[in-house]
Order: sequence, then structure tokens, then C-alpha cells
Amino acid sequence: MHNIAVMPGDGTGPEVVLEGLKVLKAAAARYGFEYETTDYDFGGDRYLKTGETLPDSALDELKGHDAIFLGAIGHPDVKPGVLEQGILLKARFELDQYINLRPVKLFPGVETPIKDKGPDDIDFVVVRENTEGLYVGAGGFLKKGKPDEVAIQESINTRKGVERCVRYAFDYCQRRGKDNKLTMCGKTNVLNYSQDLWMRTFNETAPDYPGVTTDYAHVDAICMWFIKNPEWFDVIVTDNIFGDIITDLGAMIQGGMGIAAGGNINPEGVSMFEPIGGSAPKYTGQNVINPLAAIAAVQMMLEFLGESEAGAAVEAAIADVTANKLKSLAVGKTGFSTTEIGDLVAERVSKG
Ligand code: IPM
Ligand code: MN
Repeated sequence: MHNIAVMPGDGTGPEVVLEGLKVLKAAAARYGFEYETTDYDFGGDRYLKTGETLPDSALDELKGHDAIFLGAIGHPDVKPGVLEQGILLKARFELDQYINLRPVKLFPGVETPIKDKGPDDIDFVVVRENTEGLYVGAGGFLKKGKPDEVAIQESINTRKGVERCVRYAFDYCQRRGKDNKLTMCGKTNVLNYSQDLWMRTFNETAPDYPGVTTDYAHVDAICMWFIKNPEWFDVIVTDNIFGDIITDLGAMIQGGMGIAAGGNINPEGVSMFEPIGGSAPKYTGQNVINPLAAIAAVQMMLEFLGESEAGAAVEAAIADVTANKLKSLAVGKTGFSTTEIGDLVAERVSKG
């Protein structure tokens, strides 16, 4: 029995989560596993009513689940940063989800803005460190508001934090078994301390994985290669902020936020799966948003729950729907409503 916490969140989050759950239900029926869901209403509306983002008591409850399925966080009436930090980042940090796993895969039939590249060329995974770096919130102001104001934002990188991320990436690359190539994405030519630790850790870990070829690219150059030669990449490992930035670029080359999913992974604890796009408040309630990213998040969750056959079936169903049904992934241009896309994928999963 898989015990899943569901946090639909804000905007179109609840709509896409419903479609993800529809596909989960079809997969459970077809592949014979059982699950239970518990809903949590954390998000903008609850914050506006109660002032609460993600209370510590909820964290304890979440820890009792096997996985968390998150919709989207972000509300037009809440100051930017409050919900992102109070819910999303708090969950990542407090649940020690130290890996943010973001596949960049172009499904068949999906349009990429990169000329002459297809599904064979765009199929890699970014392993983003998810609990350290610039995201820790360390720093401060001196003389705030004065003409000689100073603002410091520190990037904290620990040997333990970097090493567990790098090791995860090597293991993942080996398990993936595609090209057995792991690229570190960094900025060693400028960031003498943090990136020095990353590079040393990467190089010192590599001998434990003789089957994995290693490579290195600066973060600015990797933005260029994603566009010019995406086929060069298999698995990429990088720090929190670089991973944040390059995965938005990755999402665009795989067809947009409508298909990009990610997993916030604690390999020893509870992991959280999410479509990586925002809450798209202006489309709320219109049944027009494409739910494939949320469905792809369910696919990742199934794999992490050990339901690999069901996960593979969901992936194949997404590919079938993008190749044969949808006209586009863009909002309002798919040719189907949110619920119809969920139905199409669920039906395909049911057929096996
Ligand atoms: C993401 C998002 C978050 C991040 C924001 C909402 C805090 O952009 O999941 O990539 O920066 O990690
Ligand atoms: Mn981001």
C-alpha cells in the first residue's frame, strides 16, 4: 500500500493534480497495486485565511507518507516569495530532499524550438542539488536603505551536501544506462571556493564509477550547448541555482512547461513530485491547461515507489498521446481540454 500525500496548491494546480490522480488510478487498476491519498490544502488561499504556509505539524505528517504529489504554488494576492519559501523550499529543506531530478525529454510529436532536433537528440536528466548553495537564505544587509547599503547573499556548499548529490548523480547515470556519461555543470573559472569543492568532489568520486565517463562544462557554455548540441548530454549534475536556471531552458527545448516534471528526492526519506511550471492563475478553472507535466510527475513518483512497470506504461501513454492526439502543448491549442487529456492518457494506461 502506497501512502501518498497530495498538495494540489494554487491556481491550476488542483486541475492538473486531478488528471494526475486519474492516471494513477488507471495505473493501479491495470498493474495491481494499492494506494491511499491524503489531501493537504497548503497554498495561497489557506495562507490568506490563516497566515499559515507549511506548519511544522504538517511536516511531521508528511514524513509519514511514502511520497508527496504537489500541484503548483503561487497566488496573485500573496507577495512573491512567501509561498515559494514558506511551502516549496520549506518542504525541500525540512524533508531533506537533497536531489532535484529533472528529466529533459522531447516526447514524439512535441514541437521543440530547436531546428532539426528530435526525440533522439533531446533526452537527458539534470540532477540539481536541492538543499544548499544560494538557496539557504544566508546573508544579510548592512545599512539597509542608505546610499552605502551592503547586501550579502551567501552560497553555502558543504562537503557532505555536495558529495551526496554527486554520488547520487553517478549512481543514477549508471542505473539509467543510456550513454553512461555524467557532465558536471559549474563555473570553476570564477567561483574559486564553491566550485572548487564541487570539482574536487566530482573528480574524487569518479574513480568509484569506472563505467561512467565524466565531462565538465561551464554553466554559461551549457546554455549554449543545450541549444546547439543537446544530444551531447546524458546526465548532468550541478548546484542549486545553476540547476534552477538550466532546467527552465531544458523545459523549453522539451516542449515547454506543459510537459516538464521534476522530483524532489530524499533517497532515504519522503520525496515530492511536481510539474515544474507555475500555478498559471489566469487559466484557473477554465479546463484549458495541459496536465501532461503533472502526469509525468506521477510517472516519476511511480518509479520511485517501485512501480516501474506502471511508470513505464504511463510514460508510453504520454508518448502515444503526444504523438497521435495532441496538436500542440500550448494552452488552448492542444485540441483537447484538461480533463480530456487526462482521459486519453488514463485510457491508454488501462489498455496496457
Ligand atoms: C523551481 C522554482 C523554485 C526554485 C522557486 C519557485 C522557489 O523555480 O522549482 O525551479 O527556484 O527552485
Ligand atoms: Mn525554477
